[in-house]
Amino acid sequence: MSVLIFVLINAVLILRFCAVSLAADGISSSQSIRDGRTLVSRNGMFEFGFFGLGNSKNRYVGIWYKKIPVQTVVWVANGCNPISDSSGLLMINSICNLVLLDRNKSIVWSTSLSKQAKKPMVQLLDSGNLVLREEENGSPEDYLWQSFDYPSDTLLPGMKIGWDLTKGLKWRLSAWKSWDDPCSSDFTFGIESREGYIRERGEVYYRTGTWNGFGLSGSPDLKPDNLIYDYEIVSNANQTYYMYNLKNSSVISRVVLNQTTRTRQRLVWMERSKSWKVFAFVPRDFCDNYGRCGANSNCVINENPVCRCLRGFKPKSQENWNLREWSEGCVRNNPLSCHDKDKSDDDFVKFVGLKLPDTRNIWVNES
Ligand SMILES: *[C@@H]1O[C@H](CO)[C@@H](O)[C@H](O)[C@H]1NC(C)=O
Ligand SMILES: *[C@@H]1O[C@H](CO)[C@@H](O)[C@H](O)[C@H]1NC(C)=O
Ligand SMILES: *[C@@H]1O[C@H](CO)[C@@H](O)[C@H](O)[C@H]1NC(C)=O
Ligand SMILES: *[C@@H]1O[C@H](CO)[C@@H](O)[C@H](O)[C@H]1NC(C)=O
Repeated sequence: MSVLIFVLINAVLILRFCAVSLAADGISSSQSIRDGRTLVSRNGMFEFGFFGLGNSKNRYVGIWYKKIPVQTVVWVANGCNPISDSSGLLMINSICNLVLLDRNKSIVWSTSLSKQAKKPMVQLLDSGNLVLREEENGSPEDYLWQSFDYPSDTLLPGMKIGWDLTKGLKWRLSAWKSWDDPCSSDFTFGIESREGYIRERGEVYYRTGTWNGFGLSGSPDLKPDNLIYDYEIVSNANQTYYMYNLKNSSVISRVVLNQTTRTRQRLVWMERSKSWKVFAFVPRDFCDNYGRCGANSNCVINENPVCRCLRGFKPKSQENWNLREWSEGCVRNNPLSCHDKDKSDDDFVKFVGLKLPDTRNIWVNES
């Protein structure tokens, strides 16, 4: 009888242990994660593990929303190096890196630690950040590695886009190559100087307009006093970054660089319809794209044609301009004569409602 009770208690203990370990948010260096097993953040919002896309047999390691029935991947480790079957294995190796191994135990993907750790563990935080840290030390400054430092196409609340000079990190978003190929493309979003730039094959495609301490001059409708999120651009001796936080923690929202629409979208999860709704996107229209009308011109979306030379300027090539080939822009009607102060009637003219010129070649006097 007592033996039976003992066995029963044991069985209950084992069951409970299994239940706990299935929903674990972390693993230590003696454990591993194989395809089919996952880590779940303590708040139940995010899940980390292996996933596939469409009908492909390729397997990726990444993070997605656990709470949302529509597969929504927010981070991918091996986007360009999928594993072709379900033999993948994640573990912390002898030099304390988190590694992804294939059937042959060759390394498909790995974190890149520069220092040795004593007792490392991997943990999926409530924010969706996967961190590698010492078991006894959970303070953010001491993380050995974190997925937030290596963004994919998605910016989650609390993630930074920009750079860290002390750590030599550059944080930027890269769109997937296609909806079923999470390899990073050359469609990117980053911070340069003090504004956001989307680039396509290295060329500027869109810019947000300058940060004035309150908002971004080219995004007048997205002031920080909108109802969904706060944002700011911070710049100090060590870091320059853009970051946002949600005002209501029960709202689910993300920013994604979308390769299909060639836009940066902010999406909000609609619980009722169980779908993502586009809350805002850029570029918003033809004029919002970078440099569509060339130099010294103005783009007005509800005029026809949309491109106009600024006052005092004429098309560099009238023929091309007539054919709506605007890229050469406009030149002065008359050269400036400011060297001859007496004869000069040159003057400054005020224009309103324009995005300020781009800030890549400026310096800032902090005082
Ligand atoms: C694993 O090893 C076998 C035999 O050496 C080789 O044929 C196969 O291509 C390898 N697979 C991977 C995924 O590297
Ligand atoms: C920049 O980094 C140095 C060294 O880590 C630190 O002492 C300093 O406080 C940091 N400055 C700011 C503004 O964060
Ligand atoms: C936060 O969002 C939830 C769900 O949309 C809503 O029920 C709640 O009232 C909101 N709270 C505040 C303070 O706005
Ligand atoms: C890109 O936008 C399209 C159309 O809105 C949508 O169907 C698709 O899911 C989006 N892709 C991503 C990665 O969010």
